[in-house]
Amino acid sequence: MPIQFFPESKVFKLDTKTTSYVMQVGQYDYLLHLYYGALIPDAELGYLAYTCGHGAHFPCVEMSNAEIPYFSKSLHRMEYSCNGCGDFRPSALSILRSTGTADTDIQYVSHKIYAGKPKIAGQPATYATEDEATTLEVLCKDHVSGAEVTLFYTVFEIYGAMTRHASVRNASDKAMDLKSVLSTCVDFHDATDMDFIHLYGSACKERLFERAPLIHGTQSVFSKRGYSSHIHNPFIALCSHDATEESGDAYGFNLVYTGNFLASADMDSDGGGRVLMGINPEGFSWHLEPGESFTSPEAVMVYSNEGLGGMSRIFHRLYRNNLCRGAWKNKKRPILINNWEATYFKFDEEKLYDIAKAASQLGIEMLVMDDGWFGTRNSSRSALGDWFVNEEKLKGGLGKLVERVNGLGMKFGIWFEPEMVSRDSDLFRAHPEWALQTPGRPMSISRHQYTLDMSRADVRDYLFDCIKKVMDSANIAYIKWDFNRTLTEVGSALLGPDKQQEVFHRYVLGLYELLERLLTAYPELLLEGCASGGGRFDPAWLYYSPQFWASDDTDAIERLDIQYGTSMCYPTSTVGAHVSAVPNHQVGRTTPLKTRGDVAMAGTFGYELDLTVLTDEEKEIVKAQCADYHKYYDVIHYGDLYRLISPWKDRTRCAWMYVSEDKSEAHVTYVVIRKRVHERHFVRLAGLDPSKRYLNEQTGQVLSGKTWMNAGMCVQGGPNDFTSFTFHLVAVD
Ligand code: DGJ
Repeated sequence: MPIQFFPESKVFKLDTKTTSYVMQVGQYDYLLHLYYGALIPDAELGYLAYTCGHGAHFPCVEMSNAEIPYFSKSLHRMEYSCNGCGDFRPSALSILRSTGTADTDIQYVSHKIYAGKPKIAGQPATYATEDEATTLEVLCKDHVSGAEVTLFYTVFEIYGAMTRHASVRNASDKAMDLKSVLSTCVDFHDATDMDFIHLYGSACKERLFERAPLIHGTQSVFSKRGYSSHIHNPFIALCSHDATEESGDAYGFNLVYTGNFLASADMDSDGGGRVLMGINPEGFSWHLEPGESFTSPEAVMVYSNEGLGGMSRIFHRLYRNNLCRGAWKNKKRPILINNWEATYFKFDEEKLYDIAKAASQLGIEMLVMDDGWFGTRNSSRSALGDWFVNEEKLKGGLGKLVERVNGLGMKFGIWFEPEMVSRDSDLFRAHPEWALQTPGRPMSISRHQYTLDMSRADVRDYLFDCIKKVMDSANIAYIKWDFNRTLTEVGSALLGPDKQQEVFHRYVLGLYELLERLLTAYPELLLEGCASGGGRFDPAWLYYSPQFWASDDTDAIERLDIQYGTSMCYPTSTVGAHVSAVPNHQVGRTTPLKTRGDVAMAGTFGYELDLTVLTDEEKEIVKAQCADYHKYYDVIHYGDLYRLISPWKDRTRCAWMYVSEDKSEAHVTYVVIRKRVHERHFVRLAGLDPSKRYLNEQTGQVLSGKTWMNAGMCVQGGPNDFTSFTFHLVAVD
């Protein structure tokens, strides 16, 4: 049984094939955390619980029985920490009672264990059949406020992954306000030997990897921009100081939420650690009348003792199989040509058709028409919200263009930015109250646009109808759903003062509802998320769109950093990556077309340049890249990723490889960032079967997996900076 309860010791043990997570109903029915890490036998772990003396600085539960040892919440490892009753570390749960006090304290009441995984109504989450996962629900109660708190734990036995979320029901007869309901809280007995990892950045340099020792106090990353954001991803990891790509302890935490989040790791003065993750309490409050409930988003937790690489591979499998869904989940994605960097706003039907025609001759399978096809949209200054085809640009309408593109044997995709409204738009003139705003305060403007109030059903209905009209007017296979500003002055004209603190979260729930409605109406639609590049690359989006545009920085060398960080938890099949023109539009760098292709191949793959101006030689390279995409698709998209050389390691090179699940083939990519004289590198491969022999199809060399992994593959430095090499290995026996 993956989840067991031992009635005598009142211990819960949650196992996957590689991990154990243990907690106990302790003194006074407080839920104590005992262990999270590598799989252990069903041993008695009660010794890990703290017993303490009575001291001035560690308030204890008032004792009714002198025989029972003192119990101080500030010393124990608590399973779901509460605010204001003696646990002074950062809290997961804080409830403002009708008394005006925010004292919160929960104790175990009952539990149930069952096969499968429940849905979280109205929210994205990982999903599982009864064979894939087992769930534990622990009901706790704050006997004073009357709040009932259910803690949900699901273990994915085969992955070494588990998920958590919490729900709170007001079982009292008075109203209460939730100030913080985080999704997970994990205490570590000893965090003194750990590093804190997170992915930071900004637009055009998303998810950059940063690792530093965990120190006393709290280290946190967060968003209060209304979306998960470019600045910090809702992912953190703790790993042992000695953890490498392939060895050592690594714990990864990722929030399935696309709004404001908080992810923190705290080290207390006694060396204990606490990880918290959930909706950012800043800017959040949720009012519960008697009988009402609130459910947090889901947090995914992964542990591996095979280092950061082991951790990432677990996330990748889980997300590919149990988060992404729909028609495109495990279907080869079309190679696309997007016109954004080719034309920006300046295009017409003929220009798009010419690009599509050139693309169709090279093996590209879909044209995506980006921003600028609607209303009076000739720059970023106007027309968001006016989702009507601009027939001056697209003469004959959308239907005619799509038919012509389809006639070339290509699919057609289209860009929307549904959540936004331009100040200069018919929609804003008709409905200024549809934009987020607060009474009496001027609205901040960003990219000349405001944000629509997605908590409103009328706004969502309008958007759905607009998108539906466009979808029904032509054969559209794909939508790029963009989002290009942060949320400010977050208030809703429809809600009273007591609900305004709920708007950030209601916005996110409204967005989920609209996305679900769209996918239900168009189940074959391929949706790609985008937010000024990769500003919303998070697991919530991957539940709706199996691919996300990783960054507006399309330079192959910048992409090494971006894609390396992204791969910490997000699978290659979700990483939107395109080949663009040189000199690169973002950083001005000129890189070979082969390198641009090799780097974009570690993603969904496509092009974003004017194909009509390619030379014959370039066309041949593009044709070969498209052929390679099909040839290597399975190993790259369904294989296991091994990061071989980090782009940050002395900034001279970067390498990674994919190995098929049955270890019969592998694909290696090596990029020279900065050439040095007399260089001959030996890249030690990983993940191969040591007992198999593999043929390197590019060099003809046959060596055992053991030799490739221990002696390494020799790569001569290459002729220039930015050269790349790819090698395909196939098992020969
Ligand atoms: C931002 C996106 O990241 C770009 O790819 C492009 O779609 C522009 N928006 C269009 O305005």
